[in-house]
Amino acid sequence: MKALVLAGGAGTRLRPFSYSTPKQLVPVANKPVLFHCLETLRAAGIDEVGIIVSGSGAAVRTAVGDGARFGLDITYIPQEEPRGLAQCVTLAQPFLKDDDFVMYLGDNVFVGGIQESLQAFRENGAAAELVVSKVADPSAYGVVEVDPEGRVTGLQEKPVRPASDLAVTGVYFFTPLIHEAVAGIRPSWRNEWEITDAIQWLVTHGHPVRAHAFTGYWKDTGTVPDLLECNRVLLEDVVPGNEGVVDNVTEIVGPVVIGPGARVERSRIVGPAIIGAGCTIEDSYIGPYTSIGSGVRLGNAGVEASILMDRASVHDVRSIEASLIGRSVDVRPSTVPATAHRLVVGDDSKVEVPA
Ligand code: TTP
Repeated sequence: MKALVLAGGAGTRLRPFSYSTPKQLVPVANKPVLFHCLETLRAAGIDEVGIIVSGSGAAVRTAVGDGARFGLDITYIPQEEPRGLAQCVTLAQPFLKDDDFVMYLGDNVFVGGIQESLQAFRENGAAAELVVSKVADPSAYGVVEVDPEGRVTGLQEKPVRPASDLAVTGVYFFTPLIHEAVAGIRPSWRNEWEITDAIQWLVTHGHPVRAHAFTGYWKDTGTVPDLLECNRVLLEDVVPGNEGVVDNVTEIVGPVVIGPGARVERSRIVGPAIIGAGCTIEDSYIGPYTSIGSGVRLGNAGVEASILMDRASVHDVRSIEASLIGRSVDVRPSTVPATAHRLVVGDDSKVEVPA
């Protein structure tokens, strides 16, 4: 079986990060979301992977390479413009040929793996198997209508009156019939080729579509709160280790990973937390659920429940929480009078300061 990973898209909800980096490369627990996805596929025994990339996909190609280090054989499939999930299937047809495949949205994380769903697909003989997850607020998702035997009888997109509490997640198993279905649909009102329309086509034409309930933790990391929540859940399983240098007045509580070459002095770290390679942490507090990338510098800083990307620095600011801080960002107190904030912030950034 092959995999088709979708790592293109506009990523409008993750601006400004998605201006400089494909959103699938934003790190959670110090690893790009896309790497979590590739590892999940490998763990399910899949090794032939096509990745849809936006434009030339230079950033994804640089990060992932030929896939050898994941034990995968990777083919890149460029998408000029993000025109929908079903268009990705069309673009990938020369790669997929007549094989069954799993389509995996590259910004989704599944803790616990997808083996069980893959097994269900293999046993059921359905034209498509959708991985679904029980959610508290189905009206915010694509929702499946299922009969008592687990057969999908219809799909609803963000329904006002949901037929079930089973949301369609970011993993779909397909037989080659999906190509016929995609050829049978038209673009939607938002001018995208919708995979839900193609799946509905299968249902309408009498092909069996099934839903498999995923019981582990699933997250679509399309927004900042979603990324922070996912980071939090992944850090719950962190295995502590210290490859850096920690002085004897620093206090470490709970599971904390300290990367090679990191130096921690006169600080208090409360896990679960990860500190990347080559960081310098001085006179600082790092609270639970914080992931700190490589080469980050903290001096008299306080950070918790946040993600700091590589080479960011925070000095003399002690109250940072629930924040996503990009690469090489510098946060420090203003040198202008105390009532003023001096900001150099890119397009579509979001800054919250005390009123
Ligand atoms: P979305 O979450 O819909 O991605 P988006 O980039 O449109 O996000 P936003 O709404 O914030 O603008 O798509 C799910 C995944 O599929 C995500 O990893 C991006 C990818 N994708 C493609 O590769 N090509 C596409 O044409 C689309 C629509 C999405």
